Amino acid sequence: MPRLAAFQTFIDAMRAHCAREADIERRYRGAVPHLEALLADPALRERAAAWGAPNEPERGIYRNLLFYEDADYGFVVNALVKEPRHQTPIHDHGPIWTLYGVLDGAERVARYRRRDEGRGERADLELLDDHWVRPGFIDVVPPFDIHVEYNGDHRTVGVIVRSGNVGRTPQSWFDAADGRITRRLGPDQVPHELV
Ligand SMILES: [Fe+2]
Repeated sequence: MPRLAAFQTFIDAMRAHCAREADIERRYRGAVPHLEALLADPALRERAAAWGAPNEPERGIYRNLLFYEDADYGFVVNALVKEPRHQTPIHDHGPIWTLYGVLDGAERVARYRRRDEGRGERADLELLDDHWVRPGFIDVVPPFDIHVEYNGDHRTVGVIVRSGNVGRTPQSWFDAADGRITRRLGPDQVPHELV
């Protein structure tokens, strides 16, 4: 079955963009308008109502729907569905660039920096900012950027473009109480055909 039209348009535009832009930072910052166009597609919103890949925060298990992984340029398109009041751990995405677009719902994102300059066994975290993200908003998350997402009293759906597959890439989780660092792979990848 052919892909959802807006999604195929996004993939084609993203591949052309990657062919033109070799610099990784400019590539991902410059891809924001392509993700904006995808998020604005009414058919995508309709499809998202049926998406599910339940997270189990109490067990430390998170899942992403895996829509696409590009064989030439390595970019990956995921979705993350959060149930009401779920939150992520404080984490980074390792070396991966992320464009986090909100499709439905809304959530609070807090960002941190390490006062210990990344050298300690436990991170000394300083809160940098705390903001609500709403449908249409796209957060550009550079490699090793430390953050946490708190969902509101509703389902929230994010459509995410990444420079690689987080399910195969080590990332760091930070204990909120004492800054203890755990290295682990990112969310499990659950293949899903976006048709
Ligand atoms: Fe994240």
